[in-house]
Amino acid sequence: MSIPRKLIAGNWKMNGLGRKSGELAAAVADACRSVDPRFDMLICPPFTLISCIRGIIDDGVVKLGGQDCSPEAAGAFTGDIAAPMLKDIGCAFVILGHSERRHGHGESNELIRAKAEAAHAAGLVAIICVGEIKEERQAGQEKDVVGKQLANSIPALATSENTVIAYEPVWAIGTGLTATPEDVLEMHAFIRAGIAGKIANSEQTRLLYGGSVKPGNAAELLATANVDGVLVGGASLKADDIMAIAKASPVINA
Ligand code: PGA
Repeated sequence: MSIPRKLIAGNWKMNGLGRKSGELAAAVADACRSVDPRFDMLICPPFTLISCIRGIIDDGVVKLGGQDCSPEAAGAFTGDIAAPMLKDIGCAFVILGHSERRHGHGESNELIRAKAEAAHAAGLVAIICVGEIKEERQAGQEKDVVGKQLANSIPALATSENTVIAYEPVWAIGTGLTATPEDVLEMHAFIRAGIAGKIANSEQTRLLYGGSVKPGNAAELLATANVDGVLVGGASLKADDIMAIAKASPVINA
């Protein structure tokens, strides 16, 4: 059984300054105001922009999320942002274990699990990212890698309400390469099976695909079984593109 409302999550990464970013968020929010039952829109801006965007989008039509959080709730951790701070500023979600954190900052599954526990304790939905690098796929190891990431990054108290899994093959992120629909179908079925017993109500847990999602490939990806939304980097920096992706969500048959 699949989840009818797709989650369209924009990951702005380390992009955006002041007024222009406010305009982008406002344009997305305006476009979402004629509520479309096919999707929920989420924007994950850099920490510095969350407060400003929260002031612009004050009706909840677009949800807000952080791109990372500390495993600690507060204290002497210079430069870190705690999950309760994200909650306090109006976030509902936080992306954890993005490949740019796993590979760029050496984050382990265990650290990502601790961060997810902190997110849950603060009342945030954790979007836990998994995905193999190119060499692992070439060696046919993608399921081993993703299986281990799932086994070790998901906290014990994960439920379909507080956890989303994003499959992002690392070689597809920001490269213009996308996994084939067959690869996505196979991996998402593998993930759906893999989270049974690890996430309460696993059938209703949203599984996102990420990696060079664009207006041109969104419809096919969003129509794939077990793809309950997308995590979008580059294309989320243009209001028209992220809206075209969102509107490519399949029409729900009541
Ligand atoms: P991309 O990034 O859409 O630019 O490939 C996706 C992501 O990293 O979440």
